[in-house]
Amino acid sequence: MSFFITTAINYVNAEPHMGHAYEAITTDVIARHMRQRGEDVFFLTGTDEHGEPVADAAAAQGLDPKVLADRNAERFKALLPSLTISNDFFIRTSDPQHEHRVQEILQAVHDHGYTYKGLYEGWYCPRCADFKVENEILEGNLCPIHEIALERHQEENWFFRLSAFQEPLERLYAQRPDFVLPRVRFNEARAFIAQGLADVSLSRAHLRWGIPVTWDPSQVFYVWFDALLNYVTALSYAPPPARPGERDLFARYWPATVHMIGKDILKFHTVYWPALLIAAGLEVPKHVLIHGFLLMDDKKMSKSLGNVLNPFEVLEGFGADALRYYCLREVSFGQDGNVSAKGFEDRYENELANEYGNLASRTLAMVERYREGTVPSAETDATLAQELDGLADQVAGLLDRFELTPALELIWQRVRRLNRYVEERAPWQLARDSSLAAELEQTLASLAEGLRVVSVLLHPYMPTATERLLEAFGTPEPAYSEAHFKRRGSGQRVRALEPLFPKRA
Ligand code: MSP
Repeated sequence: MSFFITTAINYVNAEPHMGHAYEAITTDVIARHMRQRGEDVFFLTGTDEHGEPVADAAAAQGLDPKVLADRNAERFKALLPSLTISNDFFIRTSDPQHEHRVQEILQAVHDHGYTYKGLYEGWYCPRCADFKVENEILEGNLCPIHEIALERHQEENWFFRLSAFQEPLERLYAQRPDFVLPRVRFNEARAFIAQGLADVSLSRAHLRWGIPVTWDPSQVFYVWFDALLNYVTALSYAPPPARPGERDLFARYWPATVHMIGKDILKFHTVYWPALLIAAGLEVPKHVLIHGFLLMDDKKMSKSLGNVLNPFEVLEGFGADALRYYCLREVSFGQDGNVSAKGFEDRYENELANEYGNLASRTLAMVERYREGTVPSAETDATLAQELDGLADQVAGLLDRFELTPALELIWQRVRRLNRYVEERAPWQLARDSSLAAELEQTLASLAEGLRVVSVLLHPYMPTATERLLEAFGTPEPAYSEAHFKRRGSGQRVRALEPLFPKRA
Protein backbone atom coordinates (compact mmCIF):
# COMPACT_ATOMS: atom_id res chain seq x y z
CA MET A 1 0.00 0.00 0.00
CA SER A 2 1.15 3.54 -0.60
CA PHE A 3 2.19 5.47 2.47
CA PHE A 4 2.89 9.17 1.96
CA ILE A 5 4.37 10.90 4.98
CA THR A 6 5.47 14.52 5.33
CA THR A 7 7.07 16.88 7.82
CA ALA A 8 6.18 20.54 8.06
CA ILE A 9 8.43 22.55 5.77
CA ASN A 10 10.84 24.75 7.70
CA TYR A 11 11.16 28.50 7.51
CA VAL A 12 14.48 29.59 6.10
CA ASN A 13 14.61 32.84 8.07
CA ALA A 14 16.94 31.11 10.53
CA GLU A 15 19.14 28.05 10.81
CA PRO A 16 17.92 24.61 11.84
CA HIS A 17 17.54 23.88 15.56
CA MET A 18 16.73 20.83 17.68
CA GLY A 19 12.99 21.29 17.20
CA HIS A 20 13.39 20.83 13.45
CA ALA A 21 15.68 17.85 13.99
CA TYR A 22 13.10 16.33 16.34
CA GLU A 23 10.34 16.50 13.76
CA ALA A 24 12.54 15.01 11.03
CA ILE A 25 13.57 12.17 13.36
CA THR A 26 10.08 11.24 14.52
CA THR A 27 8.82 11.26 10.93
CA ASP A 28 11.77 9.17 9.80
CA VAL A 29 11.08 6.50 12.42
CA ILE A 30 7.60 6.02 10.99
CA ALA A 31 8.82 6.09 7.38
CA ARG A 32 11.54 3.52 8.03
CA HIS A 33 9.22 1.27 10.01
CA MET A 34 6.64 1.27 7.22
CA ARG A 35 9.32 0.53 4.62
CA GLN A 36 10.47 -2.40 6.73
CA ARG A 37 6.93 -3.69 6.56
CA GLY A 38 6.97 -3.48 2.78
CA GLU A 39 4.77 -0.40 2.36
CA ASP A 40 5.31 1.82 -0.68
CA VAL A 41 6.60 4.82 1.31
CA PHE A 42 7.15 8.32 0.01
CA PHE A 43 8.69 10.66 2.55
CA LEU A 44 8.67 14.39 1.86
CA THR A 45 10.33 17.27 3.68
CA GLY A 46 11.63 20.68 2.65
CA THR A 47 11.73 24.42 3.20
CA ASP A 48 9.11 27.17 3.35
CA GLU A 49 10.74 30.15 1.72
CA HIS A 50 8.27 32.91 0.95
CA GLY A 51 6.54 35.48 3.13
CA GLU A 52 7.32 38.17 5.66
CA PRO A 53 9.54 36.20 8.03
CA VAL A 54 12.06 35.46 5.31
CA ALA A 55 11.73 38.84 3.59
CA ASP A 56 12.25 40.60 6.96
CA ALA A 57 15.22 38.47 7.99
CA ALA A 58 16.85 39.04 4.59
CA ALA A 59 16.24 42.80 4.76
CA ALA A 60 17.77 42.90 8.25
CA GLN A 61 20.94 41.34 6.84
CA GLY A 62 20.91 43.46 3.69
CA LEU A 63 20.32 40.41 1.51
CA ASP A 64 18.00 39.49 -1.30
CA PRO A 65 15.43 37.02 0.10
CA LYS A 66 16.44 34.38 -2.44
CA VAL A 67 20.07 34.58 -1.31
CA LEU A 68 19.10 34.03 2.31
CA ALA A 69 16.71 31.25 1.28
CA ASP A 70 19.42 29.49 -0.76
CA ARG A 71 21.87 29.71 2.11
CA ASN A 72 19.55 28.39 4.81
CA ALA A 73 17.82 25.81 2.61
CA GLU A 74 21.28 24.26 2.16
CA ARG A 75 21.68 24.06 5.93
CA PHE A 76 18.33 22.33 6.36
CA LYS A 77 19.21 19.97 3.55
CA ALA A 78 22.62 19.18 5.05
CA LEU A 79 21.10 18.35 8.41
CA LEU A 80 19.10 15.44 6.97
CA PRO A 81 21.88 12.98 6.07
CA SER A 82 23.67 13.75 9.31
CA LEU A 83 20.50 12.63 11.14
CA THR A 84 20.21 9.64 8.75
CA ILE A 85 16.83 10.90 7.57
CA SER A 86 15.56 8.78 4.66
CA ASN A 87 13.44 11.37 2.86
CA ASP A 88 12.66 10.69 -0.79
CA PHE A 89 12.44 14.33 -1.83
CA PHE A 90 13.27 17.79 -0.54
CA ILE A 91 10.89 20.48 -1.73
CA ARG A 92 11.70 24.18 -1.75
CA THR A 93 8.73 26.47 -2.18
CA SER A 94 10.89 28.65 -4.45
CA ASP A 95 11.04 25.75 -6.94
CA PRO A 96 9.40 27.04 -10.14
CA GLN A 97 7.38 23.82 -10.49
CA HIS A 98 5.90 24.37 -7.03
CA GLU A 99 5.05 27.98 -7.83
CA HIS A 100 3.36 27.03 -11.06
CA ARG A 101 1.26 24.29 -9.47
CA VAL A 102 0.22 26.55 -6.55
CA GLN A 103 -1.10 29.02 -9.09
CA GLU A 104 -3.07 26.30 -10.87
CA ILE A 105 -4.65 24.97 -7.69
CA LEU A 106 -5.52 28.36 -6.21
CA GLN A 107 -6.92 29.45 -9.57
CA ALA A 108 -9.26 26.45 -9.30
CA VAL A 109 -10.30 27.59 -5.81
CA HIS A 110 -11.00 31.05 -7.29
CA ASP A 111 -12.92 29.54 -10.22
CA HIS A 112 -15.02 27.51 -7.80
CA GLY A 113 -16.16 30.78 -6.21
CA TYR A 114 -14.37 30.50 -2.88
CA THR A 115 -12.50 33.83 -3.03
CA TYR A 116 -13.48 37.51 -2.84
CA LYS A 117 -11.76 40.86 -2.31
CA GLY A 118 -12.12 42.46 1.11
CA LEU A 119 -10.53 44.65 3.74
CA TYR A 120 -8.54 42.97 6.39
CA GLU A 121 -7.57 44.51 9.68
CA GLY A 122 -6.09 42.79 12.67
CA TRP A 123 -3.21 42.12 15.03
CA TYR A 124 -0.37 40.62 13.13
CA CYS A 125 2.80 38.81 14.23
CA PRO A 126 5.55 39.27 11.64
CA ARG A 127 7.41 36.18 12.89
CA CYS A 128 4.38 33.88 12.58
CA ALA A 129 3.31 35.66 9.40
CA ASP A 130 -0.16 35.40 10.85
CA PHE A 131 -2.94 37.56 12.20
CA LYS A 132 -3.87 36.67 15.78
CA VAL A 133 -7.44 36.42 17.02
CA GLU A 134 -8.33 38.31 20.19
CA ASN A 135 -8.43 35.32 22.55
CA GLU A 136 -4.93 34.17 21.57
CA ILE A 137 -3.22 37.48 22.24
CA LEU A 138 -1.14 37.85 25.42
CA GLU A 139 -1.47 40.84 27.70
CA GLY A 140 0.22 43.91 26.26
CA ASN A 141 -0.63 42.80 22.69
CA LEU A 142 2.08 40.18 22.53
CA CYS A 143 2.33 37.17 20.26
CA PRO A 144 1.49 34.04 22.30
CA ILE A 145 4.32 32.14 20.61
CA HIS A 146 7.09 34.69 20.19
CA GLU A 147 6.14 37.09 22.98
CA ILE A 148 6.88 40.07 20.74
CA ALA A 149 4.65 43.09 20.12
CA LEU A 150 1.93 42.52 17.55
CA GLU A 151 1.38 45.10 14.81
CA ARG A 152 -1.97 46.54 13.73
CA HIS A 153 -2.31 45.79 10.03
CA GLN A 154 -4.97 46.81 7.53
CA GLU A 155 -5.00 46.03 3.84
CA GLU A 156 -7.23 45.11 0.97
CA ASN A 157 -6.65 41.57 -0.15
CA TRP A 158 -8.21 38.39 -1.40
CA PHE A 159 -10.13 36.25 1.04
CA PHE A 160 -10.73 32.54 1.18
CA ARG A 161 -14.29 31.62 2.19
CA LEU A 162 -13.34 29.41 5.11
CA SER A 163 -16.79 30.02 6.59
CA ALA A 164 -18.31 28.01 3.72
CA PHE A 165 -16.57 24.92 5.12
CA GLN A 166 -18.08 24.95 8.58
CA GLU A 167 -20.38 22.05 7.82
CA PRO A 168 -18.04 19.99 5.65
CA LEU A 169 -15.40 20.20 8.37
CA GLU A 170 -17.85 19.28 11.12
CA ARG A 171 -18.84 16.28 9.04
CA LEU A 172 -15.22 15.34 8.46
CA TYR A 173 -14.53 15.39 12.20
CA ALA A 174 -17.70 13.46 12.98
CA GLN A 175 -16.84 10.74 10.46
CA ARG A 176 -13.09 10.47 11.00
CA PRO A 177 -12.15 10.31 14.70
CA ASP A 178 -8.54 9.61 13.72
CA PHE A 179 -8.22 12.51 11.28
CA VAL A 180 -6.18 14.37 13.90
CA LEU A 181 -4.00 12.47 16.37
CA PRO A 182 -3.50 12.31 19.30
CA ARG A 183 -7.03 12.64 20.64
CA VAL A 184 -6.46 15.83 22.67
CA ARG A 185 -5.40 17.58 19.47
CA PHE A 186 -8.45 16.25 17.65
CA ASN A 187 -10.59 17.81 20.39
CA GLU A 188 -8.67 21.05 20.17
CA ALA A 189 -9.20 21.29 16.41
CA ARG A 190 -12.85 20.38 16.71
CA ALA A 191 -13.40 23.01 19.41
CA PHE A 192 -11.78 25.61 17.18
CA ILE A 193 -14.19 24.75 14.37
CA ALA A 194 -17.16 24.72 16.76
CA GLN A 195 -16.45 28.37 17.66
CA GLY A 196 -17.43 29.28 14.12
CA LEU A 197 -15.13 29.80 11.17
CA ALA A 198 -14.37 33.27 9.86
CA ASP A 199 -13.02 33.85 6.35
CA VAL A 200 -9.27 34.24 6.14
CA SER A 201 -7.07 36.33 3.95
CA LEU A 202 -5.51 34.49 1.05
CA SER A 203 -3.15 37.11 -0.33
CA ARG A 204 -0.85 39.96 0.65
CA ALA A 205 -0.81 43.36 -1.01
CA HIS A 206 2.45 44.80 0.33
CA LEU A 207 4.81 41.95 -0.22
CA ARG A 208 6.79 40.96 -3.31
CA TRP A 209 8.49 37.81 -1.94
CA GLY A 210 5.82 35.28 -2.82
CA ILE A 211 3.87 33.66 -5.64
CA PRO A 212 1.81 36.16 -7.67
CA VAL A 213 -1.97 35.78 -7.52
CA THR A 214 -2.86 34.65 -11.04
CA TRP A 215 -6.01 36.74 -11.34
CA ASP A 216 -4.48 39.80 -9.58
CA PRO A 217 -0.70 39.89 -10.01
CA SER A 218 -0.37 42.99 -7.83
CA GLN A 219 -0.66 40.61 -4.87
CA VAL A 220 1.12 37.47 -3.76
CA PHE A 221 -0.48 34.47 -2.09
CA TYR A 222 -0.38 34.43 1.68
CA VAL A 223 2.59 32.26 2.59
CA TRP A 224 0.56 29.68 4.51
CA PHE A 225 -1.50 28.71 1.45
CA ASP A 226 1.64 28.58 -0.68
CA ALA A 227 3.35 26.44 1.99
CA LEU A 228 0.51 23.99 2.71
CA LEU A 229 0.23 23.19 -0.96
CA ASN A 230 3.78 21.79 -0.98
CA TYR A 231 2.33 18.46 0.08
CA VAL A 232 0.43 18.26 -3.20
CA THR A 233 2.73 20.11 -5.58
CA ALA A 234 5.76 17.92 -4.72
CA LEU A 235 3.97 14.91 -6.17
CA SER A 236 3.78 16.59 -9.57
CA TYR A 237 7.55 16.90 -10.03
CA ALA A 238 9.41 14.83 -7.45
CA PRO A 239 11.52 11.91 -8.51
CA PRO A 240 11.55 8.90 -8.50
CA PRO A 241 10.17 8.97 -12.00
CA ALA A 242 6.64 7.72 -12.10
CA ARG A 243 6.05 4.08 -13.03
CA PRO A 244 5.18 3.31 -16.63
CA GLY A 245 1.78 4.74 -17.41
CA GLU A 246 1.93 7.25 -14.55
CA ARG A 247 2.14 10.93 -15.41
CA ASP A 248 3.48 11.81 -11.98
CA LEU A 249 3.31 10.58 -8.37
CA PHE A 250 0.01 12.19 -7.51
CA ALA A 251 -2.37 9.30 -8.21
CA ARG A 252 -0.06 6.91 -6.42
CA TYR A 253 0.42 8.88 -3.19
CA TRP A 254 -2.43 11.34 -2.73
CA PRO A 255 -4.18 11.64 -0.29
CA ALA A 256 -1.26 11.83 2.13
CA THR A 257 -1.24 9.22 4.86
CA VAL A 258 0.37 11.34 7.58
CA HIS A 259 1.26 15.00 7.94
CA MET A 260 3.59 15.26 10.93
CA ILE A 261 3.52 18.74 12.49
CA GLY A 262 4.12 20.57 15.76
CA LYS A 263 1.26 21.76 17.91
CA ASP A 264 1.79 25.45 17.07
CA ILE A 265 0.60 24.98 13.50
CA LEU A 266 -2.45 22.87 14.29
CA LYS A 267 -5.02 25.41 13.05
CA PHE A 268 -3.44 25.63 9.59
CA HIS A 269 -3.30 21.87 9.09
CA THR A 270 -6.52 20.77 10.74
CA VAL A 271 -8.82 23.59 9.63
CA TYR A 272 -7.47 25.66 6.73
CA TRP A 273 -5.84 22.74 4.94
CA PRO A 274 -8.80 20.35 4.65
CA ALA A 275 -11.04 23.29 3.72
CA LEU A 276 -8.63 24.41 1.01
CA LEU A 277 -8.39 20.90 -0.39
CA ILE A 278 -12.14 20.50 -0.54
CA ALA A 279 -12.39 23.92 -2.22
CA ALA A 280 -9.87 22.80 -4.83
CA GLY A 281 -11.70 19.52 -5.38
CA LEU A 282 -8.96 17.39 -3.82
CA GLU A 283 -9.14 14.68 -1.18
CA VAL A 284 -8.16 15.46 2.41
CA PRO A 285 -5.25 13.63 4.06
CA LYS A 286 -5.81 10.56 6.23
CA HIS A 287 -4.06 11.78 9.38
CA VAL A 288 -2.58 14.93 10.81
CA LEU A 289 -0.20 13.79 13.53
CA ILE A 290 0.78 16.36 16.10
CA HIS A 291 3.91 16.25 18.22
CA GLY A 292 4.76 18.39 21.21
CA PHE A 293 7.68 20.73 21.71
CA LEU A 294 11.15 20.09 22.87
CA LEU A 295 11.66 22.35 25.84
CA MET A 296 14.69 23.66 27.60
CA ASP A 297 14.00 25.44 30.84
CA ASP A 298 10.35 24.75 30.02
CA LYS A 299 10.30 27.16 27.10
CA LYS A 300 9.81 26.15 23.52
CA MET A 301 13.17 26.03 21.87
CA SER A 302 13.29 28.43 18.99
CA LYS A 303 15.59 30.91 17.40
CA SER A 304 13.60 33.91 18.52
CA LEU A 305 13.73 32.94 22.19
CA GLY A 306 17.49 32.57 21.93
CA ASN A 307 17.98 29.22 23.70
CA VAL A 308 18.99 27.15 20.73
CA LEU A 309 20.69 23.79 21.16
CA ASN A 310 22.67 23.18 18.01
CA PRO A 311 21.91 19.74 16.55
CA PHE A 312 25.16 19.77 14.54
CA GLU A 313 27.16 19.96 17.77
CA VAL A 314 25.17 17.19 19.46
CA LEU A 315 25.66 15.00 16.40
CA GLU A 316 29.39 15.56 16.37
CA GLY A 317 29.72 14.43 19.96
CA PHE A 318 27.38 11.46 20.01
CA GLY A 319 26.25 10.52 16.51
CA ALA A 320 22.82 10.38 14.91
CA ASP A 321 21.57 7.15 16.50
CA ALA A 322 22.12 8.47 20.02
CA LEU A 323 20.27 11.69 19.27
CA ARG A 324 17.41 9.82 17.60
CA TYR A 325 17.12 7.38 20.48
CA TYR A 326 17.24 10.12 23.09
CA CYS A 327 14.53 12.18 21.39
CA LEU A 328 12.10 9.28 21.21
CA ARG A 329 12.86 7.90 24.64
CA GLU A 330 13.08 11.07 26.72
CA VAL A 331 10.12 12.91 25.25
CA SER A 332 6.86 11.02 25.32
CA PHE A 333 5.83 11.42 21.70
CA GLY A 334 2.81 13.71 21.40
CA GLN A 335 3.64 15.64 24.54
CA ASP A 336 6.11 18.40 25.33
CA GLY A 337 9.30 17.26 26.94
CA ASN A 338 12.42 18.71 28.45
CA VAL A 339 15.74 17.84 26.93
CA SER A 340 19.07 18.49 28.56
CA ALA A 341 22.73 17.66 28.11
CA LYS A 342 22.73 15.80 31.41
CA GLY A 343 19.68 13.68 30.52
CA PHE A 344 21.22 12.94 27.16
CA GLU A 345 24.55 11.82 28.60
CA ASP A 346 22.84 9.63 31.20
CA ARG A 347 20.80 7.73 28.66
CA TYR A 348 23.79 7.41 26.35
CA GLU A 349 25.89 5.90 29.10
CA ASN A 350 23.32 3.75 30.91
CA GLU A 351 21.11 2.57 28.10
CA LEU A 352 22.96 2.78 24.80
CA ALA A 353 26.51 2.03 25.92
CA ASN A 354 25.78 -0.33 28.84
CA GLU A 355 22.50 -2.03 28.07
CA TYR A 356 22.54 -2.38 24.29
CA GLY A 357 26.14 -1.81 23.15
CA ASN A 358 27.62 -3.88 25.90
CA LEU A 359 25.16 -6.72 25.42
CA ALA A 360 26.17 -6.87 21.77
CA SER A 361 29.91 -6.88 22.42
CA ARG A 362 29.68 -9.39 25.26
CA THR A 363 27.60 -11.76 23.19
CA LEU A 364 29.94 -11.51 20.22
CA ALA A 365 32.99 -12.00 22.42
CA MET A 366 31.47 -15.13 23.98
CA VAL A 367 30.52 -16.60 20.62
CA GLU A 368 34.08 -15.93 19.52
CA ARG A 369 35.72 -17.34 22.61
CA TYR A 370 33.54 -20.37 23.31
CA ARG A 371 32.42 -21.39 19.80
CA GLU A 372 35.12 -20.03 17.50
CA GLY A 373 32.90 -17.33 16.12
CA THR A 374 29.93 -19.44 15.02
CA VAL A 375 26.46 -18.92 16.51
CA PRO A 376 25.44 -22.46 17.55
CA SER A 377 22.46 -23.78 15.60
CA ALA A 378 21.14 -25.14 18.89
CA GLU A 379 17.54 -24.92 19.96
CA THR A 380 16.77 -21.55 21.55
CA ASP A 381 15.43 -21.02 25.05
CA ALA A 382 11.69 -21.66 25.27
CA THR A 383 10.99 -19.14 28.04
CA LEU A 384 12.81 -16.42 26.18
CA ALA A 385 11.00 -17.40 23.00
CA GLN A 386 7.71 -16.95 24.80
CA GLU A 387 8.75 -13.52 25.99
CA LEU A 388 9.77 -12.42 22.53
CA ASP A 389 6.93 -14.02 20.59
CA GLY A 390 4.35 -11.48 19.55
CA LEU A 391 6.68 -8.55 20.21
CA ALA A 392 6.87 -7.60 16.52
CA ASP A 393 3.07 -7.60 16.26
CA GLN A 394 2.71 -5.49 19.36
CA VAL A 395 5.27 -2.99 18.10
CA ALA A 396 3.57 -2.84 14.70
CA GLY A 397 0.21 -2.32 16.41
CA LEU A 398 1.56 0.59 18.43
CA LEU A 399 3.26 2.14 15.43
CA ASP A 400 0.06 1.82 13.39
CA ARG A 401 -1.35 4.23 15.95
CA PHE A 402 1.87 6.28 15.90
CA GLU A 403 2.66 5.46 19.52
CA LEU A 404 6.38 5.92 19.00
CA THR A 405 7.53 6.09 22.60
CA PRO A 406 5.55 3.12 23.98
CA ALA A 407 6.80 1.01 21.07
CA LEU A 408 10.39 1.88 21.92
CA GLU A 409 9.72 1.21 25.60
CA LEU A 410 8.38 -2.23 24.75
CA ILE A 411 11.46 -3.12 22.72
CA TRP A 412 13.76 -1.77 25.39
CA GLN A 413 12.15 -3.96 28.04
CA ARG A 414 13.38 -6.90 25.96
CA VAL A 415 16.88 -5.45 25.72
CA ARG A 416 16.87 -5.40 29.52
CA ARG A 417 15.45 -8.89 29.61
CA LEU A 418 18.36 -10.13 27.50
CA ASN A 419 20.81 -8.53 29.90
CA ARG A 420 19.15 -10.35 32.78
CA TYR A 421 19.32 -13.57 30.78
CA VAL A 422 23.09 -13.22 30.53
CA GLU A 423 23.33 -12.79 34.27
CA GLU A 424 20.97 -15.72 34.95
CA ARG A 425 22.76 -18.12 32.64
CA ALA A 426 26.30 -16.90 33.36
CA PRO A 427 27.77 -18.43 30.18
CA TRP A 428 31.32 -17.96 31.51
CA GLN A 429 30.49 -20.53 34.19
CA LEU A 430 28.80 -22.91 31.76
CA ALA A 431 31.94 -22.74 29.61
CA ARG A 432 34.03 -24.15 32.44
CA ASP A 433 32.16 -27.44 32.52
CA SER A 434 32.01 -29.47 29.30
CA SER A 435 28.97 -31.40 30.53
CA LEU A 436 27.06 -28.11 30.26
CA ALA A 437 27.96 -27.61 26.59
CA ALA A 438 24.35 -27.94 25.45
CA GLU A 439 23.22 -25.26 27.87
CA LEU A 440 26.02 -22.99 26.77
CA GLU A 441 25.06 -23.48 23.14
CA GLN A 442 21.44 -22.75 23.88
CA THR A 443 22.40 -19.62 25.79
CA LEU A 444 24.58 -18.27 23.01
CA ALA A 445 22.05 -19.11 20.30
CA SER A 446 19.27 -17.44 22.32
CA LEU A 447 21.27 -14.30 23.00
CA ALA A 448 22.25 -13.91 19.36
CA GLU A 449 18.66 -14.50 18.26
CA GLY A 450 17.25 -12.11 20.88
CA LEU A 451 19.69 -9.42 19.87
CA ARG A 452 18.78 -9.95 16.24
CA VAL A 453 15.06 -9.54 16.94
CA VAL A 454 15.39 -6.40 19.05
CA SER A 455 17.80 -4.92 16.50
CA VAL A 456 15.40 -5.47 13.60
CA LEU A 457 12.71 -3.73 15.65
CA LEU A 458 15.05 -0.94 16.74
CA HIS A 459 16.23 -0.35 13.19
CA PRO A 460 13.85 2.57 12.43
CA TYR A 461 15.00 4.29 15.62
CA MET A 462 18.74 3.67 15.24
CA PRO A 463 19.45 2.67 11.64
CA THR A 464 23.24 2.76 11.75
CA ALA A 465 24.00 0.90 14.99
CA THR A 466 21.43 -1.79 14.30
CA GLU A 467 22.73 -2.36 10.78
CA ARG A 468 26.26 -2.73 12.09
CA LEU A 469 25.10 -5.16 14.73
CA LEU A 470 23.06 -7.25 12.33
CA GLU A 471 25.97 -7.44 9.92
CA ALA A 472 28.38 -8.47 12.66
CA PHE A 473 26.01 -11.30 13.58
CA GLY A 474 25.86 -12.40 9.96
CA THR A 475 22.10 -11.76 9.71
CA PRO A 476 21.99 -8.43 7.89
CA GLU A 477 18.34 -8.46 6.81
CA PRO A 478 16.32 -5.85 8.78
CA ALA A 479 12.97 -6.73 7.10
CA TYR A 480 10.02 -6.89 9.40
CA SER A 481 9.12 -10.38 8.29
CA GLU A 482 12.35 -11.45 10.03
CA ALA A 483 11.41 -9.89 13.35
CA HIS A 484 10.17 -13.05 15.06
CA PHE A 485 12.27 -15.13 17.47
CA LYS A 486 13.39 -18.31 15.74
CA ARG A 487 13.49 -21.69 17.37
CA ARG A 488 17.10 -22.42 16.38
CA GLY A 489 20.33 -20.44 16.36
CA SER A 490 21.45 -19.22 12.96
CA GLY A 491 24.70 -21.22 12.62
CA GLN A 492 26.25 -18.06 11.15
CA ARG A 493 29.76 -16.85 11.60
CA VAL A 494 30.05 -13.59 13.50
CA ARG A 495 32.42 -10.74 12.82
CA ALA A 496 34.19 -8.34 15.13
CA LEU A 497 32.32 -5.15 15.97
CA GLU A 498 33.73 -1.85 17.14
CA PRO A 499 31.77 -0.61 20.17
CA LEU A 500 28.36 0.61 18.98
CA PHE A 501 28.25 3.39 21.56
CA PRO A 502 31.80 3.95 22.75
CA LYS A 503 32.19 5.22 26.29
CA ARG A 504 33.12 8.84 26.34
CA ALA A 505 36.14 10.06 28.22
N1 MSP B 1 6.92 26.95 7.77
C1 MSP B 1 5.98 26.58 8.77
C2 MSP B 1 5.32 25.26 8.46
C3 MSP B 1 4.66 25.18 7.13
S1 MSP B 1 4.05 23.57 6.81
C4 MSP B 1 3.12 23.72 5.45
C5 MSP B 1 6.68 26.50 10.12
N2 MSP B 1 8.02 26.41 10.07
S2 MSP B 1 8.97 26.32 11.36
O1 MSP B 1 10.31 26.25 10.85
O2 MSP B 1 8.67 27.37 12.26
O3 MSP B 1 8.59 24.98 12.09
C6 MSP B 1 8.69 23.76 11.42
C7 MSP B 1 8.22 22.62 12.31
O4 MSP B 1 9.10 22.53 13.44
C8 MSP B 1 6.82 22.84 12.87
O5 MSP B 1 6.07 21.64 12.80
C9 MSP B 1 7.07 23.23 14.30
O6 MSP B 1 6.04 22.85 15.17
C10 MSP B 1 8.33 22.44 14.60
N3 MSP B 1 9.05 23.00 15.73
C11 MSP B 1 9.59 24.24 15.85
N4 MSP B 1 10.10 24.37 17.10
C12 MSP B 1 9.91 23.24 17.82
C13 MSP B 1 10.34 22.73 19.05
N5 MSP B 1 10.98 23.45 19.94
N6 MSP B 1 10.09 21.43 19.33
C14 MSP B 1 9.51 20.59 18.43
N7 MSP B 1 9.12 21.03 17.24
C15 MSP B 1 9.07 22.38 16.99
O7 MSP B 1 6.00 26.49 11.13
